Amino acid sequence: MEGWGPTGAAGAAGGLVLSILISLTTEGCRAQKGDACGPSVLGPSSGTLSSLGYPGTYPNQSVCEWEISVPRGNRIHFHFAELDIEDGDCQVNYLRLYDGVGLERSEIVKYCGLGLKVKELIASTGNQVTVQFMSRTHRRGRGFYLSYSAAEHT
Ligand SMILES: *[C@@H]1O[C@H](CO)[C@@H](O)[C@H](O)[C@H]1NC(C)=O
Repeated sequence: MEGWGPTGAAGAAGGLVLSILISLTTEGCRAQKGDACGPSVLGPSSGTLSSLGYPGTYPNQSVCEWEISVPRGNRIHFHFAELDIEDGDCQVNYLRLYDGVGLERSEIVKYCGLGLKVKELIASTGNQVTVQFMSRTHRRGRGFYLSYSAAEHT
């Protein structure tokens, strides 16, 4: 780090912060943001996600987005253990999955409704997805609980 700015402890701390930032942006694109995020485990080969308060109902006026990445050359398969989202207005109460993250993403599927059963296989085309959960005013609905796993392209 010669000639790179602060030296000594401050420089070392700066270098550490920089390398953490770099590792977050290059590999560990597993992140969440929003105020309706329930417990989640976002692993590189499998994980689980849920709405806040699950299996109780989720709060009014809340949102959460999770970004999931698995190794290159893999797709992401989803299993929905529970989908129970009050559908007074599906424009604002839903669980939505996107292929990709950020501005490049495109919708795979969107769900709303109480007690939904998903029979078909839901899979991404690439190795990254965004999971988005949104709620406005509602009274019931347990929210959602899902798991994912990485699967190699065939
Ligand atoms: C959401 O707000 C409505 C109206 O204020 C209220 O009746 C309802 O109980 C709230 N739902 C939750 C989950 O807090």
